[in-house]
Amino acid sequence: MTSSTTITSTAVPKTTSVTLPKPSPKIAGQAKDVWTIVNEAAAEAQASLPFPVLNLGQGFFSYNPPEFAIRAAQDALNDVSCNQYSHTKGRPSLRKALAAAYEPSFGRKINWESEVVVTSGANEGMFSAFTAFLSDGDEVVVFEPFFDQYISNIQLPGGKVVYVPLVPPPDNDVRTVSSSEWKVDFEDLQSKISPRTKMIVVNSPHNPVGKVFSREELEKIGQIAVENNIIVLSDEVYDRLYYKPFTRMATLSPELQQLTLTVGSAGKTFSATGWRVGWLIGDAELIKYVSAAHTRICFAVNSPLQEATAVALQEAAKAENTFFVDHVEAYKQKFRIFNRIWDELGLTYTDPEGGYFVLVNFSKVKIPDDYQFPEDVTVGRAKDFQIAYWLIKEIGVVTIPPTEFYHPEHAHLAEKYLRFAVCKTDDYLEQAVERLRLLKPYIQH
Ligand SMILES: Cc1ncc(COP(=O)(O)O)c(C=O)c1O
Repeated sequence: MTSSTTITSTAVPKTTSVTLPKPSPKIAGQAKDVWTIVNEAAAEAQASLPFPVLNLGQGFFSYNPPEFAIRAAQDALNDVSCNQYSHTKGRPSLRKALAAAYEPSFGRKINWESEVVVTSGANEGMFSAFTAFLSDGDEVVVFEPFFDQYISNIQLPGGKVVYVPLVPPPDNDVRTVSSSEWKVDFEDLQSKISPRTKMIVVNSPHNPVGKVFSREELEKIGQIAVENNIIVLSDEVYDRLYYKPFTRMATLSPELQQLTLTVGSAGKTFSATGWRVGWLIGDAELIKYVSAAHTRICFAVNSPLQEATAVALQEAAKAENTFFVDHVEAYKQKFRIFNRIWDELGLTYTDPEGGYFVLVNFSKVKIPDDYQFPEDVTVGRAKDFQIAYWLIKEIGVVTIPPTEFYHPEHAHLAEKYLRFAVCKTDDYLEQAVERLRLLKPYIQH
């Protein structure tokens, strides 16, 4: 092209005569999701409040991964092979590091070539698992409250979700309870099993209840799975953050070793949710189909952050590296800092045994009767959406209304709670405590 060449615009003026093709009903018509509602309210609140809005809503960290993980990520970018495609199952370095990391708690050798697949976050890993095993109309049992992505991940490949609510103790309005007191109703679970049940999803440590399922509970769920030949998708992304003994489903029996897909996440393990590195570990006969689905969905995961995760796992395993132990202690301290406000205000909560969320019971908080709410949080929404909205707009603290994690028919079970994420710096949590003191005049005793 010479310097005298001119480029003229050939843009066609927009007409109104085109009818755009309709999107798939699996995607269209979904209500505005909770993250959008909450983030919009937070942006609006920030424009009018005299102080910064504090975000304890979505579970992302307000601080960086450990220095050794950051260094590994920087080094990976300087390695030629790390800037190119990786093996669709994951870089050998990471699959070997994962096998080594899980072998002690699995109590067996893990074949890194056939029993591990690296995915784009735990989320895509679970989508791959559902895609691999579900045919139209196959059923998947999910406990409520659930991690919201499970639902569309099951429905997109044609699966049907079957809901089993965890049951909190009835007196949780008047006392702070342990997350272990949220129980599985085994009669309910048993009654929901049908010849179409293909999978059960178990999440331990649990988001948002903080429950670490006991060995006995896992054995009972596992027994139902074995008797009915059901795959257990064991979502253990918070497996480095537990404050009481933690059991892995896959370790309970040789049958459950065969039927369980264990899910993990570098995002949760190394405070790096944006890295989008996750994995599934399980019997080679299951993993080969997950891997085939994963190849079709995203082919391969980004290489540099896989390599960084591999190196970080190796570093964290060194005797002199105390990261995982320190991490648990840091989270116990975060909960100590943060939860004292509920004791001070006289609000009850569910004391978590794992993970980084706390569910707080807001039934004593009285919002002025004439408070004006937008339709987003009233039409088809339970009361927790209104409480969350009010808390953002008036107090400047962002939380998540947990009825989003229930089927609408069961939303009444959770409408008095709000979920707070404590994966923030201690200083940020101190500021949140200070801010939440503004709730005092609204509490009815
Ligand atoms: C229970 C649970 N499972 C899976 C995920 C997704 O993990 P990832 O970010 O690795 O996709 C989350 C994220 O919040 C979660 O809470």
